[in-house]
Amino acid sequence: MSKVLLTGGTGFIGSHTAVELLEKGHEVVIADNLSNSSRDIVDRIEKITGKRPAFYEIDVADRGALAALFEKESVEAVIHFAGYKAVGESVAKPLMYYRNNLDTSLTLLETMARFGCHRIIFSSSSTVYGALSPCPFREDSPVGGCSNPYGWTKFMIEKILQDAARADEQLSVVLLRYFNPVGAHESALIGEKPGGIPNNLMPFITQVAAGKRDHLNVFGDDYETPDGTGVRDYIHVVDLARGHVAALNYAEKHTGTEIFNLGTGKGTSVMEMIRAFEKANGLTIPFVIAPRRPGDLAFSYAETGKAETVLHWKAEKNIEDMCRDAWRFEKGLL
Ligand code: WQD
Repeated sequence: MSKVLLTGGTGFIGSHTAVELLEKGHEVVIADNLSNSSRDIVDRIEKITGKRPAFYEIDVADRGALAALFEKESVEAVIHFAGYKAVGESVAKPLMYYRNNLDTSLTLLETMARFGCHRIIFSSSSTVYGALSPCPFREDSPVGGCSNPYGWTKFMIEKILQDAARADEQLSVVLLRYFNPVGAHESALIGEKPGGIPNNLMPFITQVAAGKRDHLNVFGDDYETPDGTGVRDYIHVVDLARGHVAALNYAEKHTGTEIFNLGTGKGTSVMEMIRAFEKANGLTIPFVIAPRRPGDLAFSYAETGKAETVLHWKAEKNIEDMCRDAWRFEKGLL
């Protein structure tokens, strides 16, 4: 069992990962500046697991505060979630994205080296594959060609981590490329809570279901996909969180860099998602067909064989589970 630092540990994926780690007996320390989450998430994690993670309200780019944390806690491994993640905002404020996402990662790596912590798991994204190769995306498919600064920060941090591992033979780096995380913990105590207008499909659907928005815009119905709408590889956030536990076990035994896709390998279109949500929850989602959203691909789904073989991890929950749990969480917010 390890003592694991989760940067951004009160966020959507971080909080679910904290729960899965605590349930497997690991010790969890969270560092989060609460820029897109809140302190009560720590209470909720405790409510679910019966264990309270240590919590530091700090900015990971604050070198002094991060060093004080490492001074106090003997951190054995880090899972690095902290970062800005809104695609559209990154186009409007690129420097803010590059400064924040790169600064936090560099400060974290330097501090880890200073305190002799050699294991890091990074929250990367399938967005690094860009439009360079056909689906399914494999870990050795070409990367780059990202359509926005957010995606490029993930690409650049991957590169920084790979170079750091090349220069330090003790370092173990695991890059996890997430596909489309959705759903919520089945307790409905933690889930996705975007501020403002949601950018992503599932939170938009749940807000329409809740009556917070009157309809969903379907961005394009003329893609070269079976029903013309965009196809994505949606993965339940609890499955995704369990993938981090598997990656942590892997990082304990290996050095160098290893990359894994975390997806289901199965593509679902926007129309299929709307229908699945309606069926799972007995609701109707009003929608209109709108123009394509710039930067969107027709298809994005994972080749999942490497994570299955090497990490012994596989997503188990289906689209119905994702729709049911996302709605159960949204209802809890009403
Ligand atoms: C899914 C599908 C849309 C909203 C993005 C980032 C990625 C990652 C996850 C995270 C697409 C369609 C969406 C709506 C719609 N980033 N859609 N109406 O674009 O695959 O991935 O989020 O931090 O890096 O790029 O996910 O959920 O936005 O869209 O029709 O109101 O739903 O066009 O086909 P995407 P998404």
